[in-house]
Amino acid sequence: MKAYIKTFGCQMNVYDSARVMDTLAVLGYTETDIPEDADIIVINTCHIREKASEKLYSEVGRLMQIKKDRQAQKKDCLIIVIGCVVQAEKDELMHRAPGIDIALGPQNYHELPELLTQYARGHKRLLKASFPTESKFDKLPTIQSSSVQTYLAIQEGCDNFCTYCVVPYTRGAEYSRSWTEIKAEANALVRHGAKEIMLLGQNVNCWTDRDEKGRLVDLGDLVRELAKIEGLERLRYTTSYPSKMTQNLIDAHADTPKLMPYVHLPAQAGSDKTLKAMNRKYTVQGYEDIVERFRKARPDIAISSDFIVGFPGESEADFEETLALVKRINYASSFSFKFSARPGTPASLMKHQIKEDVKVERLERLQQLLFTQQRAFNDGCIGKTLDVLFTEKSEKHPNQYIGHSPYLQNVHVESKKNLLNTALPVQITEATLTSLTGKIS
Ligand code: SAH
Ligand code: SF4
Ligand code: F3S
Repeated sequence: MKAYIKTFGCQMNVYDSARVMDTLAVLGYTETDIPEDADIIVINTCHIREKASEKLYSEVGRLMQIKKDRQAQKKDCLIIVIGCVVQAEKDELMHRAPGIDIALGPQNYHELPELLTQYARGHKRLLKASFPTESKFDKLPTIQSSSVQTYLAIQEGCDNFCTYCVVPYTRGAEYSRSWTEIKAEANALVRHGAKEIMLLGQNVNCWTDRDEKGRLVDLGDLVRELAKIEGLERLRYTTSYPSKMTQNLIDAHADTPKLMPYVHLPAQAGSDKTLKAMNRKYTVQGYEDIVERFRKARPDIAISSDFIVGFPGESEADFEETLALVKRINYASSFSFKFSARPGTPASLMKHQIKEDVKVERLERLQQLLFTQQRAFNDGCIGKTLDVLFTEKSEKHPNQYIGHSPYLQNVHVESKKNLLNTALPVQITEATLTSLTGKIS
């Protein structure tokens, strides 16, 4: 039996998809990347912006055709939808997409085996989208496989309620997995071949627990502990909430060589007025102070961010403050988005919504600046030797391998020797906006 899985959205969804594949592996399914061959098709969905949500519906339409073709050959194909759209739209989703057989919210996907049994007994069109009291992490099977670069969810959910964001509604309340559980999972991932682990959480730096001795520990302590795992070469974490950054975690960047010199620190906007309207709990000055502390601890650290343009009420002057912040910080890379009014969020009901053409124009100006900075950061790597972990072999160019640098840049290298799954020093010779090229030194 074969399963095909298509993932939209953030890294947390990539992690969830891997855990769903683990669940299906225990039930006897192997993964295929050809949907036409699959007995089960899983779509993992994202609700963050309107565009992201809409992708699900076009995907279900496409996959329904595959299902029909298979049924014509007397083979069935189950369509399972998981992820944030399920939680946000529930019955409306089932109504809009009649082809869905099973739908599970982000905190329910551990119930998949149970729902598959129900389905086999004749129950059709099953939906589970709730926030159960038990944690899915207690019910999921142990790690069945891992790629060399992988994700580990340590914290989930969000209590911040930024006024534009659906995540607190789709993922639920903040929750930290336990110290021992995380250590066990990290060890299992490394046993299955992981060399780089990205620790994940919607507010990853809010993670906290007690260690074996009952001491209160934070992400800085966890990073130092996981760095002791033999065979694990690199650690990262994302996404951090700026004002929740502890000095202990910042210090870990100075004292833990396995922790990569890269931090994703979403600013969202550069005007205090907009930050307040967004319910972001920091000021522009507060944000800049945190960046300063990172740079003091680890001068070569690369900083990246997310930005939203055209938030309700954002004036030209407010927007220019965002540009000014970007100029002062000088980012290595960033994501930027037009504000998308999401149903049920306070910002979708605010007065002074910004017109689409203004959003488009602001996004262009911001991206031009961000791309210039990113290009300059990449150009600055030419002549340097960076450690590259190779994760892919190019399909287009034989003998070309693709990996990533400590600063998360893609690096291309020609080699007759197989470089896959190894980390090697690479001398950087060329740079573009999105990647570097180098040779093994
Ligand atoms: N937890 C993370 C981000 C999660 S969503 C944090 O707090 O930073 C990823 C990014 O999507 C956000 O940083 C934000 O820039 C963007 N985003 C979220 N909701 C959005 C909306 N309604 N419109 C446009 N962009 C949005
Ligand atoms: Fe969304 Fe804000 Fe929570 Fe991030 S911190 S997930 S942007 S509500
Ligand atoms: Fe999207 Fe849900 Fe992630 S809305 S960004 S998949 S937490």
